[in-house]
Amino acid sequence: MKRLCLDKNQVYSGELILVNGDNPIKKMISNKNISLVDKKSNVYLNKTVDYMLKELLFEIGSRDEIIYVSGYRTLGEQIKIYNDSIVENGEFFTNKYVALSNHSEHQTGLAIDLARNDINIDFIRPDFPLDGIYKEFREKAPHYGFIERYLKDKENITKISAEPWHFRYVGFPHSEIISRNNFVLEEYIEYIKDFKYSKKPLTVKDKNLNIEISYICCENDKNWIAIPDNSPYTVSGNNIDGYILTLWRT
Ligand code: DAL
Ligand code: ZN
Repeated sequence: MKRLCLDKNQVYSGELILVNGDNPIKKMISNKNISLVDKKSNVYLNKTVDYMLKELLFEIGSRDEIIYVSGYRTLGEQIKIYNDSIVENGEFFTNKYVALSNHSEHQTGLAIDLARNDINIDFIRPDFPLDGIYKEFREKAPHYGFIERYLKDKENITKISAEPWHFRYVGFPHSEIISRNNFVLEEYIEYIKDFKYSKKPLTVKDKNLNIEISYICCENDKNWIAIPDNSPYTVSGNNIDGYILTLWRT
């Protein structure tokens, strides 16, 4: 076993951070992980997200049916989108579809808005249909780490109206568990807290591997855990009060 130190700061970064009305972005996103991924649309994304999204689009054989509308946004961009929408669409509409600055997952580089390729694209509410290749995208998305983030029957939890065009990268197998249970990220982050580190982890099988997921509460500035020597693992903060450990047992 090797010891691993989790810093308090790490609560606020990683692929599973919950960013919503109650939980703002608390840590600056490092520019080194963000790059221009589509020149035509001028969309920037986290590099892992870009890679997985391209793999997913390749698998479903998308050529130009699906286009990028909005990916990573700077703080200034989110402020402008919100303010412009208030002027154009009013407060009621805007609060349903645009997050306040520092409360948008677009500022993490982990979210992407997609649209059906068309001459006119609605920037705030792009059309991403429920059938055809768009349906296939939705079905395969969890294999590649993506979830549809704002579901119609979960508006009371997310506090955002259904957005069938907005996908969030959370990484595999979290995306699979979320989608299988029809969770939104808010629910998953709560659910995982029942699987405390050093008690019983949540175990999922992927081919011949067992993946163990557990929650570690951040109780100190530095939190020590033990990890098996030869098991690949990732740690993400939840942006609230702890970390989620994902461990691949070989
Ligand atoms: N449309 C989503 C909620 C955002 O502005 O981040
Ligand atoms: Zn979006």
